[in-house]
Amino acid sequence: MDVEECLKEWEDLVVDYKRLEVVNKDYVTKLEEVGELQAACMKEINHQKYRMSIIAAALKRLEKKGVTKDDRVANLEKEIMKRKAMLREINATLPKQNSLYLRIILGNVNVSILNKNDKFKYKDEYEKFKLILSAIAFVLAVANLYIDFRPLQLILLFLLVWYYCTLTIRESILKVNGSRIKGWWRLHHFISTVVAGILLIWPQNEPWNLFRHTFMWFIAYISVVQYMQFRYQSGVLYRLKALGARHNMDITIEGFHSWMWRGLSYLLPFLFGGYVFQLYIAYTLYSLSYHPEATWQIPALSLSFLTIGIGNCATTLIVIPQKLNEQVQWN
Ligand code: COA
Repeated sequence: MDVEECLKEWEDLVVDYKRLEVVNKDYVTKLEEVGELQAACMKEINHQKYRMSIIAAALKRLEKKGVTKDDRVANLEKEIMKRKAMLREINATLPKQNSLYLRIILGNVNVSILNKNDKFKYKDEYEKFKLILSAIAFVLAVANLYIDFRPLQLILLFLLVWYYCTLTIRESILKVNGSRIKGWWRLHHFISTVVAGILLIWPQNEPWNLFRHTFMWFIAYISVVQYMQFRYQSGVLYRLKALGARHNMDITIEGFHSWMWRGLSYLLPFLFGGYVFQLYIAYTLYSLSYHPEATWQIPALSLSFLTIGIGNCATTLIVIPQKLNEQVQWN
């Protein structure tokens, strides 16, 4: 290319650049329009919520006064419930503010996923992440059962600190994006991060040697339970996707509920087995706290395992009747 040709090329490129400028201007205008539409949607959602709350309060007052609930009222209540679910679906397409935890960790970066498919992919990836890390933890726990090598123990404990810490971040992002994960499961993962941190700094003394086998068995056990949970959760996720609904809005299809109960009845005994194991560990640590070489880590861990065991058990016991209710309401 000589200078003349370079100049000619450049002139051609100037024309192309003008085209890019026009497209970009169009894009920026549309972005602004999207922002305005999002604000308008939020305003309309708030309006819907406000007026529905007035109607619901009026219905409650009538009920208190002893006005009998006829078909019209029952129908209206059902419609309000359906509308709430619809509003949740609409809300899921709008950007949200980060939680305080995410603002502290990530800063004010936007983590809202507005597209249903991308949301599904993110959740699916979260479940797979848990599965892969559980498989690694299982291998390390079994290796630790047979090999007494401190660095191997530390690798597992460090992995657990990192894993639970990462879970809390991923779960906060899922929450921002409309997941209905219960507060306890998130708190459980915060406590588990602390537990793994305390285990990491527990000095290598006699009580640790007495405890470590029980702990490795526990990690191996919950890794297997995690695999079962993965099968259940991804089953729910794919079925809901196939039904075209994320939550209980359209799940009137009987097949879903019967599949869910089959999955749960298979999973629940193993979950409760895990809770008994957690309480047993709390008791073992409590007994070890009287050992002459006991350090502060032992009672702290005992209390944490007790909290986790009771919290898990209570939350799972609360979830079951809620699911039964959900089924009755939508049948
Ligand atoms: N961790 C992370 N997310 C969870 C969760 C958990 N333990 N339990 C439920 N969720 C999520 C669900 O995926 C769902 O997410 P979505 O709104 O994005 O779709 C949301 O929370 C609501 O779930 P819900 O309908 O209440 O329950 P479920 O049918 O998905 O699961 C259980 C019910 C009981 C199977 C499930 O809560 C569970 O596995 N709990 C046991 C966890 C545990 O004890 N672990 C320690 C083992 S020793």
